[in-house]
Amino acid sequence: MKADIILGLQWGDEGKGKVVDLLASSYPVIARFQGGPNAGHSIHFEGKSYVLRSIPSGIFRDGAINVIGNGVVLDPMTFRSECEALEAQGVPVRERILISRKAHLILPTHRILDAASEAAKGKSKIGSTLKGIGPAYMDKTGRNGLRVGDVEAEDFMTRLETLRKKHFSVLRQYDYQYDPQTDLAAWLSAIDYMKGFRFIDSEYFINEELRKGTGVLCEGAQGTMLDVDFGSYPFVTSSSTVCAGACTGLGISPHEVGEVYGIFKAYCTRVGSGPFPTELFDETGEELRRKGFEFGAVTKRPRRTGWLDLVALKYAVMVDGVTALSMMKSDVLSGFDKVKVAVAYRIGGKEYRHVPYDTYAEIEPVYREFDGWGDLTCASSYESLPSSFKEYVEFIEAETGVPVKIISVGPDRSQTIVR
Ligand code: GDP
Ligand code: IMO
Ligand code: MG
Repeated sequence: MKADIILGLQWGDEGKGKVVDLLASSYPVIARFQGGPNAGHSIHFEGKSYVLRSIPSGIFRDGAINVIGNGVVLDPMTFRSECEALEAQGVPVRERILISRKAHLILPTHRILDAASEAAKGKSKIGSTLKGIGPAYMDKTGRNGLRVGDVEAEDFMTRLETLRKKHFSVLRQYDYQYDPQTDLAAWLSAIDYMKGFRFIDSEYFINEELRKGTGVLCEGAQGTMLDVDFGSYPFVTSSSTVCAGACTGLGISPHEVGEVYGIFKAYCTRVGSGPFPTELFDETGEELRRKGFEFGAVTKRPRRTGWLDLVALKYAVMVDGVTALSMMKSDVLSGFDKVKVAVAYRIGGKEYRHVPYDTYAEIEPVYREFDGWGDLTCASSYESLPSSFKEYVEFIEAETGVPVKIISVGPDRSQTIVR
């Protein structure tokens, strides 16, 4: 069996959680491969709504094993509150979650460092979720980090103190007020709570499952345009959100990768700073935000909105080797007279069909216009969808060269057409 991957193709919040939850019924193992509590993956079914941060979106499926992979940065406090909320709803989290010993820990001082760094950047801030993601990955690559497996070491408290001291010395470079004891007691208590879960060498576990023929679904966070290498640097997150991130974030070889599901919205959104060529600042943008309820699942910040950007989408499809597309929130575009798609960028009077290196380039999108469509929320088959909508879908397929296998027409698990 191969490992199939679900990842975002835009700037995050494409609807990955919904698709992972949907497909998880066919996969005994679901594994998150990067990111941390900066993610907010929403799931709706049977009249209930959930937002998952570090826990894989297969958690609601009976008998499924949900692995938090080595590529994830885990905040024990967020993990605990997420687990306790799920336990209160009767989800047996201890049976269903396995945590990689090699996942890195987010400390309260990582969150303080994040806030201090953003405050120092002023107007050029990234717009981070301030969950300590960047500083935690910096400690990982800087070889200073603490990992989940370290909590079992006898000298854990000494190593924690060493890292905290390092953080305090970095914080002295910032003009930033903070309380060094912030959340320390709650964090240590959450570490104890986390010890009630099974820690594993997840690379062995996943490869063994694949060898036995078990289906493994890998869940990404954020999106390709937020990738630390290929996103709009420096306005990115600090991990590899692309397909290759599943290999490094779980310890699987590229040969083991099967289907790559690229998730995208029928339009675009972005939260935080950075380039967004098709961003709309008018009533249409406002309408997209209102109809799509485009407010951050984690930070509640209003998301920036705009038309679909095919230049960026094709770039993501290329970098990720996407084999199947999943178009989300198609229903949000219902009722618009005309729907636009950017097919090229005009930069300095010239037309380009690639994403420019220069993050600060002045880009004017070149649009192709489509006729709008009516309500889709009750559609149950591709054939029954309006012809103008099918024209939109088939144009995207022709441009990307990848079939749109899943079409989402509402937030609920049931509002999905699988072709
Ligand atoms: P993720 O981070 O990629 O999992 O996406 P988020 O959960 O942050 O944001 C997606 C939002 O869109 C959530 O509120 C979902 O419930 C919602 N959503 C997902 N698919 C659809 C859809 O097809 N139509 C509508 N209207 N909402 C959707
Ligand atoms: P999911 O998994 C949307 C954005 C932040 C900011 C930048 C860096 O729900 O799609 P960070 O906290 O990582 O330092 O923030 O990345 N960002 C997201 N935007 N969805 C997400 O996750 C995001 N995670 C981070 O807004 O611009
Ligand atoms: Mg989200």
